[in-house]
Amino acid sequence: MKEKRIVITIDGTCGSGKSTIARRLADRLGLVYLDTGAMYRAITWKALQTGQDLNDRRALIELAERTEIRLRRGERGPRVFVDGAEVTEEIRTPRVTNAVKHLADIPEVRSEMVSQQRRIAEAGGILAEGRDTGTVVFPDADYKFYVDAPIEVRLRRRHREFAGKGIEMTEDEVKKDLLARDAADKSRPVGALRVPEGAIVIDTGATDEVEENLKLLLKHIKEVDRVDKLIS
Ligand code: DC
Repeated sequence: MKEKRIVITIDGTCGSGKSTIARRLADRLGLVYLDTGAMYRAITWKALQTGQDLNDRRALIELAERTEIRLRRGERGPRVFVDGAEVTEEIRTPRVTNAVKHLADIPEVRSEMVSQQRRIAEAGGILAEGRDTGTVVFPDADYKFYVDAPIEVRLRRRHREFAGKGIEMTEDEVKKDLLARDAADKSRPVGALRVPEGAIVIDTGATDEVEENLKLLLKHIKEVDRVDKLIS
């Protein structure tokens, strides 16, 4: 009998450390890492690149439907392709980050992304990360995590992250940006960020050590023992 391959979802707030944890966990368990945020970024990049009017819903829906997004494993993390061209770096610019909301708020765009995400996951063995992966995309996942941390901790991490990228921002600006992101994520008409039913809530506030935070998730996953045995 074919073994069922696990599906894990990780949703959570900005600055909670969920992306780093998600990547490590996927590597550790040999799962395909499905970065759903990268998909929303990819279509946003294309909308900007092709000069779309970000208030023209119809045009944005059509654009999402006819864009081919591919995610591939790379040595330095996942690589993202739009219609065959690599956009791994381009989708991380502040310009794209600030425009994503225009597409991510449109229910039809989301339903197109969700179909693509489910298609990618058909073979199983997936770790999906985002805002609605446990609530909408894979509500029947084997393990659903919701990662969060107190606002002061997230602010400190974001500040460090911006500084690391050479983006100069005052503490007040970082705070304004983070609160706006929280509000956008949590108030979206469809696919809003919330704790999925049956999810395990992880608070990463106690430490910035990724390995320590990873352990908080690993202890809930019974397959970990088996994977460790396979590796050793
Ligand atoms: O995780 P991230 O910052 O790369 O996500 C980019 C944007 O996409 C962010 O503004 C929220 C949005 N997003 C979403 O609406 N639904 C998801 N499942 C993942 C991300």
